[in-house]
Amino acid sequence: EKGGFPHFMIKEIFEQPESIQNTIRGRIYFENGSGRIQLGGLADYLDRLASAKRFIFCACGTSWHASLVGEYLFEHFTRIPVCVEYASEFRYRNPIIYKDDIVFFISQSGETADTLAALKEAKSKGALTIGICNVVGSSISRETECGVYIHAGPEIGVASTKAFTSQVITLSLIALAIASKRGEISTKLITEYLHELNSIPKKIQNLLSQNSIMQEIAKEFNNASNFLYLGRGFNFPVALEGALKLKEISYIHAEGYPAAELKHGPIALIDEFMPVVFIAIKDSLYPKIISNIEEIKARGGRIIAIASEGDTNIESLAEYVIRVPQIIDFFSPVLTSIPLQLLAYYIAVLRGCDVDQPRNLAKSVTVE
Ligand code: M6R
Repeated sequence: EKGGFPHFMIKEIFEQPESIQNTIRGRIYFENGSGRIQLGGLADYLDRLASAKRFIFCACGTSWHASLVGEYLFEHFTRIPVCVEYASEFRYRNPIIYKDDIVFFISQSGETADTLAALKEAKSKGALTIGICNVVGSSISRETECGVYIHAGPEIGVASTKAFTSQVITLSLIALAIASKRGEISTKLITEYLHELNSIPKKIQNLLSQNSIMQEIAKEFNNASNFLYLGRGFNFPVALEGALKLKEISYIHAEGYPAAELKHGPIALIDEFMPVVFIAIKDSLYPKIISNIEEIKARGGRIIAIASEGDTNIESLAEYVIRVPQIIDFFSPVLTSIPLQLLAYYIAVLRGCDVDQPRNLAKSVTVE
């Protein structure tokens, strides 16, 4: 049932070209050269979504990280403000929810107790609730008024991998559908972006074929006691997600930060024993992240860079470089997160950890 792989986690990482294809299937159409999005589960609510004053995204763990990417995507495309909330904090602070708020609940399992409780709170305050779940028929998918399944297929490994990338793709589709309804984006651009989304499975295939460099990096750093992950913009949440993956399966202490925050404190941690993973692809913030890399290099930190294909400049700064195919910056998290999943996996295996069933963790957290 692991399809020849030693663990579910690595099987699920390698399934991503297919799981993303399944997320997109039947939702993107091209007619006379123009792209269109169809999300059956939201069709009756699209007018309400397009006239919303505010969206709230509620989730835990990896789904919360996907929600943060979603915040960047939604605000970029729809120009409607988004608040991202930890379900566990939101539910206990008598949250301010207006009747015209639209609250999304993002959950792979659809059974997370805190997310479910936050959903009940939002419903009782009269907001429209939307589920973004993987497990069909799960509690959150049943209790929300409408929603979109991510269709990533069963995720067995406790560390969430393919659900994260499918959540991000689903949120991208919803954001684009709302933006198009609002007239915030031209048909020409939508068409271009939908072609780009369609190209992602092939790009992931290409990325996965460079797997051996991740094994090499894991060999070099599996004895580290700490790791830092840094990114900016759309890739700041990817830094958080990379750190969470490493923590939960290898038990190495890791932190993710927005790269520019480093000088406000964490830079004090940098020495020759600190591996620092930078997500440094060629997007609009590239020059900024390069100067952040220089700051770390000057203090002796060991740099691993997730960089764009064809970026030759970065080699002089980083000890290890992992190449991701070119992609429009707002879709890049679905590529840049994958080497970080692999890094966590290979480090955990070298440390002899139980990758699919890490200590103290359960696949779905159905208790508070
Ligand atoms: O099923 P959910 O998406 O609601 O689960 C939320 C978190 O418990 C989950 O993402 C957790 O953080 C994972 N173990 C991360 O890999």
